[in-house]
Amino acid sequence: MKKSVEKIRSDIPFLDSGIIYLDNAATTPTPEPVIEAMLEYYHEYSGNIGRGLHRVTKRATEAFESSREKIARVINSEPEEIVYSKNTTEALNLLARGLNLKKGDKVIATVLDHHSNLIPWQRIEKEAGIELEIIHKCPNFIVDPTAVEEAIDEKTQIVTMPSVSNAFGTRQPVEEVSKIAKENNALFSVDAAQSVGHMPVDVEEMGCDFLAAPGHKGLLGPQGTGFLYIREEMIDDIEPLLYGGGIVKAVEEHKCELVEPPQVFDAGTPNIPGIIGLGRAAEYVLDIGLEKIKRRERRLVDQILEINSIDNIEVYGPKSAKKRGGVVSFNLKGLDSHEVSSLLDEIGNIATRSGHHCAEPAMKYFNLNGNARASVHYYNTGGEVDKFIEVLTGVAEELT
Ligand code: ALA
Repeated sequence: MKKSVEKIRSDIPFLDSGIIYLDNAATTPTPEPVIEAMLEYYHEYSGNIGRGLHRVTKRATEAFESSREKIARVINSEPEEIVYSKNTTEALNLLARGLNLKKGDKVIATVLDHHSNLIPWQRIEKEAGIELEIIHKCPNFIVDPTAVEEAIDEKTQIVTMPSVSNAFGTRQPVEEVSKIAKENNALFSVDAAQSVGHMPVDVEEMGCDFLAAPGHKGLLGPQGTGFLYIREEMIDDIEPLLYGGGIVKAVEEHKCELVEPPQVFDAGTPNIPGIIGLGRAAEYVLDIGLEKIKRRERRLVDQILEINSIDNIEVYGPKSAKKRGGVVSFNLKGLDSHEVSSLLDEIGNIATRSGHHCAEPAMKYFNLNGNARASVHYYNTGGEVDKFIEVLTGVAEELT
């Protein structure tokens, strides 16, 4: 059954207070069916996974495993290529550590990368002595692929970038960069935190070897969940972050035989209800339709971009939603971004995020002391955006 915006809003009691929630790039509210799936686990079958033969553990294992197939449908991969994580950050740490890069290897990232796709590589730079090269050429906050072409060389093992900048909202040329990586025998990884669940994402079309995403943003899933897609041919080459119970076939005092991927990445008792909720959330956004979500978010973002006509505003990036995800960031001249967000909250009960958005190198490079950020999901309405524009206009008028 296709879902109307009203139906989806009624699934999100969080909105009943009248809040205008435009901070979906940070995290999204969780719809009732997702909460119900997690409650069902707690109420009816809250056993551990893969650790017994009784019916409770069987049902829990089945539900936990079935989320791989649901997530795979969102990104056009195989279920066996989905590794669960607690967030995008953990997924990217797994990748950076698990590749076992050595001194002399090179990694290319971009100045637009979120700290979660920068600091794990910095760690490898420090610990293993790899070279980390950062691409700076980003006209209008969009990575210039020719800069990647210039930087890539025979030492480059992997190129990594965001699909949508979380700090500026710009869509990035992942397909073009992926081709450059392939032509140079380098792997390609995408931080898709701001695109999965917001628009169709296809790992085949993107040509990526790895893709990391959270459960609690575009997918409308629970916090504490995420995943790493690892292309089948690569999955045996990535070393797990954790070793321990639940991932072994046999253990002796000084050695063990591990199970196969992707289960080998699930050491210890994982977030079973969270992953079950994540699977339900993937079904939920698939039911709405990813193309439909993209189209609606574009309309809302085009509407938000009308703030370009406010006096003393600086809006970052393209003036059309076509080159954006669901994010618009801006500053009012003479007002700190934290003050802007606080006033939107106080005057209009409007939630936005302010500051550097975990992208400090980007802010420094573009000479900004942070920005205010409005970010949408499918359930937001044109009326909410009107109110946001009205309140922001009032705040700007007070400054003149
Ligand atoms: N990464 C999230 C954001 O950009 C938290 O707000």
